[in-house]
Parts: sequence; structure tokens; C-alpha cells
Amino acid sequence: MDREFPPDFLWGAATASYQIEGAVAEDGRTPSIWDTLCRRPGAILNGDTGDVAADHYHRWPEDLDHIVRLGLDAYRFSIAWPRVQPHGSGPFHQAGLDFYARLVDGLLERDIKPVITMYHWDLPQELEDAGGWPVRDTALRFEEYAYGIVAALGDRVHTWTTLNEPWCSAYLGYSSGVHAPGRTEPAAALAAVHHLNLAHGLGGRVVRELAPHAQLSVTLNLHVVRPDNPESAADRDAVRQIDALANRAFLGPMLDAAYPADLLADTASLTDWSFVRPGDEQIIAVPLDTLGVNYYSTQRVTRWSGEGPKAASDGHGASEHSAWPAAQTVEWLEQPGPYTAMGWNIDPGGITELLLRLHAEYSALPLMITENGSAFHDVVSPDGAVHDPERTAYLRDHLNAVAEAREKGADVRGYFVWSLLDNFEWAYGYDRRFGIIRVDYDTQVRTWKDSAHWYQQRVAGAHGAA
Ligand code: FCB
Repeated sequence: MDREFPPDFLWGAATASYQIEGAVAEDGRTPSIWDTLCRRPGAILNGDTGDVAADHYHRWPEDLDHIVRLGLDAYRFSIAWPRVQPHGSGPFHQAGLDFYARLVDGLLERDIKPVITMYHWDLPQELEDAGGWPVRDTALRFEEYAYGIVAALGDRVHTWTTLNEPWCSAYLGYSSGVHAPGRTEPAAALAAVHHLNLAHGLGGRVVRELAPHAQLSVTLNLHVVRPDNPESAADRDAVRQIDALANRAFLGPMLDAAYPADLLADTASLTDWSFVRPGDEQIIAVPLDTLGVNYYSTQRVTRWSGEGPKAASDGHGASEHSAWPAAQTVEWLEQPGPYTAMGWNIDPGGITELLLRLHAEYSALPLMITENGSAFHDVVSPDGAVHDPERTAYLRDHLNAVAEAREKGADVRGYFVWSLLDNFEWAYGYDRRFGIIRVDYDTQVRTWKDSAHWYQQRVAGAHGAA
């Protein structure tokens, strides 16, 4: 039985620029850190790159029509910084701004609300060459970038989201190195955490100033981390330590205007956090209209005894370098299945737990599921259809789990499936397919999977109930 959502609930789908656009060298776009990482041998599965991706840069009108056919209220996408400000500072590039203006207008003409992520990981390479997120200047450059794009698109945008998953940018980009720019410097990763937070605050202030009628948001991939043995104080402390690095490093400054004391203490061997300057935390705590939540799976930790091999099933890709600064004694245990093609465990209860935690801690802040979905090794049937019952079940069960959280009080305002289209899944290239619409990468033909038909019906049912 499908649970109910209110009539004004926002139904959507999400994508990100580097994952779908392609056209990486067109109309003045310069390389981002992902173009560079894609050229590093062994960094991306099968040597894939975002050069063509789903060719959305040329096929966007067709893609918007799919969104209309799905019956969605909103579309979440991101702006490629190197397309609109090729050097990461200084002049803006009109052709790049025009592309996003056409996209926004195309959505509005179709009665779809644009939800824009300013930064979904494609930092201009020139800014990485100047130090990247570990240096403060990158946050100041982000503020300038925000001025340019909000001035161009402003109030036509329903929601401005400053950052997508700063956790990944900081820790996968600078500690484990599985994401761009592929650096393995844990202390630099902590500086990146702060400068991403600062960029969020500075960019948020720009939205408040230039687009006072738009909603302001940020999207976090908060982790649902459970102790292996809830009776063990050591395991509970491992959860506390990971919760600080994964969740409170962002929630603390953004929502409480302060970094948590235990985070600073746990990481003291790496940094004294002197890059946090007086007043920064107040900037970071810019008031938000919604908090974006991305959710895929859960994790389980224990305090490692120091003997024998240490499990590292944190779900964040294989690297000799940990994504978790100063957390060498935390062991990540494999979760019970079932699993998706990412190897991530399927646990809809985790999304309910996360939403209820946020509701308990920040009851006045509305929540939005900005990503939820699953990769499976899809097969095209002889009749041309893609029967993906696991993906449909995943979406159905997680939506019901969101509804359960709502029934228990969580103020969840919308849900965006990840993803509208199959796309470039970062270090996994095109091997992992998250779309509800299949992309044939040889022909660029889009085919609705069964899950897309199901989602269309689900959304129609919810709207009809209105
Ligand atoms: C999230 C990213 C998104 C996509 C999904 C599967 O971490 O925000 O771009 O790759 O995971």
C-alpha cells in the first residue's frame, strides 16, 4: 500500500552538470577538476570520462519533455562553474550563462520549478591549481561565482542550493582521493570542510541579497551510522566520532553556528583548525529555508582492536587512503544485504531514522529529499523495455519510509529521485546506472525503464489525491 503525501508535496528528479552535460570543451567551457581526474590512468572505471556523458547540453529540450511526461513539479540540476566563469574568477561567460537561462526558462514554460545546485563538484581546474578547497580564497571565489549566477537567474529559480554533499568534496576529494582532485592529505581535507562551509555561508548571503523570493538550501549526505554492539561504550564512541566527521562537521556550523568540540579534539593531531577565523561560523549559519537530504544506505562501525585485518566497508570506494581523517581505529563492518550494484545495502528504515533525528534536533527546519535512488545492472529486453523491479521496489519502499517519517512529525516537503537519466557515476564511470530513464550511450536514445512508468503513476496518484 502506498502511503499518502500532502497535495503541495514537491515531486522531482535530480541530475548534476558533469554527470549529464558532456560538451566539455564547447562554448568556452574550461576543464574542471573532474576533466583532469578522468585523464589520470586508473582513476575512473574503464577509463570513462564526462566528455559526452548523456549529451544533455544538446538534448536538454527532449530531457525537459521527459520531466513533463513524468508529471513532476520540480527539476534539480547543477551549474557547471567552468562553463559560466571559465577562470573561476573574473569575467563571466555569456554563452555559459545563456545555456542555464534557456534551461530555467524552458522549465518555467513547462511549469516545472527549477531547483539549482550551485556546486555539484566541478571546480574550475584553475582554482584547484591555486590550492583548491583547502585554501580560503576558493570560498571567496565561490562568493563571486554566486553573484554572477544569482544575478543572471535570480528569482526565476525556486530553490538555490549552495553545495551538493560537501562531505564528498572534502573527504573523497582530499583524503581518500577517489574523487577529484584525487589528493590524499587528511589535514587538507579538514581545511576543505571549513572552506566549503564558508562558501555555503557566503553563497547563501548572496541568494538572500539578490533573490529574496527564492528558497535557500544546502544538500548534505548525512550518514546513518550504527554501532555494531549497542551495549559497547567503545562502539558507541566510534559512532560519535564518525557522526562528528560525517554529520556534525556540517550541521554544527550551518545550523548552530559552531563546530562541535569533539570534532576539534578528535582531529587535533592533524590540525588546530586555525583556518576558522572569528566570524566565520556566523557567516556559515545563514538561515535556510530547507535542508536537502541525500540518502542511499546505512553504515555500521566498531572500535578496531588493532589486531587482524580491518574491515573498511564504508561504501565510499576503494582506496588505500581513508576518507576519515584521524579515525584509524574505526572499523567499518559489512552490512547485511540486499545490496544495489554499488554494493550499498538497502535499508529504507535508515531514511526514516535520519529524518526523525533531524526533526528532533532542528524541528523548525523543513526537509527535502534531494536524492534517493539505486543502481542496478539493467538489461534491455528483446522488446526494448527495461524491467527493473528492484529499482521500483527501492523507490516505493523509500517513499513509504519518508511518508512514515512525515506521519511521525518530520516536516519533509519534497522528494527528488536520483536520477532522471543514466549518467556518469563519478569513479564508476558509466558502469553504474541510476536513471529511471535509460541512456544508450552509443545512440543517446532515452528509454523509460519500468521504474519511470511506476514513478509517473505514483506521482499522478499523489497529485490526484489532492
Ligand atoms: C551522490 C551524488 C550524486 C550521485 C549519487 C549516486 O553522492 O550526489 O551525484 O552520484 O551519489
